[in-house]
Amino acid sequence: MCPEAIDQQRSKLLVVGTAITVARAKRNNMDPPAADLIPAVPPSQRRRPHRQRGRRTSRQIKWALITTIIFSVITFLKFQSTATVRKSVPGVITTQDQDRPRPSTPALQQTSTEHQKLAGQNQIQLSHATAMNRYPEEYSAVQNYFQTLASEGRHPSGSINQKLLSFGASTGEEAITLASMYFMNSTFTIFGVDLDEDSLDKAKASAVAHSPKFDDNKIMFFNGKTTDISVHGPYDAIFANSVLCYHGNRNVNPQSILNKFPFSAFEDSLGYLDTNLNVGGILAIVNTNYHFSDTKLYKRYKTLAQCKNFVPKVNASSVSYEKNLHGGDNMYDCVWKKEE
Ligand SMILES: C[S@@+](CC[C@H](N)C(=O)[O-])C[C@H]1O[C@@H](n2cnc3c(N)ncnc32)[C@H](O)[C@@H]1O
Repeated sequence: MCPEAIDQQRSKLLVVGTAITVARAKRNNMDPPAADLIPAVPPSQRRRPHRQRGRRTSRQIKWALITTIIFSVITFLKFQSTATVRKSVPGVITTQDQDRPRPSTPALQQTSTEHQKLAGQNQIQLSHATAMNRYPEEYSAVQNYFQTLASEGRHPSGSINQKLLSFGASTGEEAITLASMYFMNSTFTIFGVDLDEDSLDKAKASAVAHSPKFDDNKIMFFNGKTTDISVHGPYDAIFANSVLCYHGNRNVNPQSILNKFPFSAFEDSLGYLDTNLNVGGILAIVNTNYHFSDTKLYKRYKTLAQCKNFVPKVNASSVSYEKNLHGGDNMYDCVWKKEE
């Protein structure tokens, strides 16, 4: 039992004890029974007269009350000092801490939920189409962010060694672009994850054949079916380009997208990425079927850059592709910073 509880228990016993004492005293103070009912008792054994007993009883009550007050004050002071000391010990939750109003945002979630894992490890985009330096505006925006941080001596993970993830790496062009054109510094390691083993084999071969040669461990590819992305994380930036979408196939239309990759799956996949991203890290996503700004996660992110998306967004209520102000279906967003 914790000390506060013992103290509270003690106070309760005192109060009960006092009540018993007062009740006994009152009982002794009752009027004597009628004289004819009193058996004859010798004077030496007779009880003290009523008035004398009454005075003693009131003295007992007074002492009981004084003792109770003194003990209550001591208990209260002792409890106060314990609470103050604990408050200054990091990690110890005090009663005061428990009563404090909680912040409105939930504590940072450290692991993905089963829903998020399932969605994140499910084959989303089927096409493996990719290219070198496919999204230069996005890559430059992320590069600028890390250069600014480095010039201020800061890093999202607090470590000089930073990890970037190309989610949906396909045949490796994105990871190789990042390693050879934007993040050549040895402090950056680039990971590439895909679910398609043939694509990954090509990616690994291209990285090995690259000239000039990459340092050992500069790029690493792995299969998300057998290795959860958390194994190499958390990351300082995650690139999820042209993967959180269902696009490019002749049979694809707004209704088929809503059926095969509904908004809830999009949100869960993003949750999977978010739990593997450091606070202060970057989410870089071009070409999704829905707006990141419509997800619950979005309020913890800040927009850093906007760039052209060529995959149209789906409006679930009208079951149609969204149009921009010019009547086209290109939307502009791509880079967000995780604020909390
Ligand atoms: C169109 S390519 C995009 C390649 C590259 N990110 C780019 O933008 O150029 C999509 C890739 O995402 C992969 N993919 C689909 N769902 C995935 C998932 N849940 N986890 C990892 N990769 C996935 C596909 O196998 C495919 O190789």
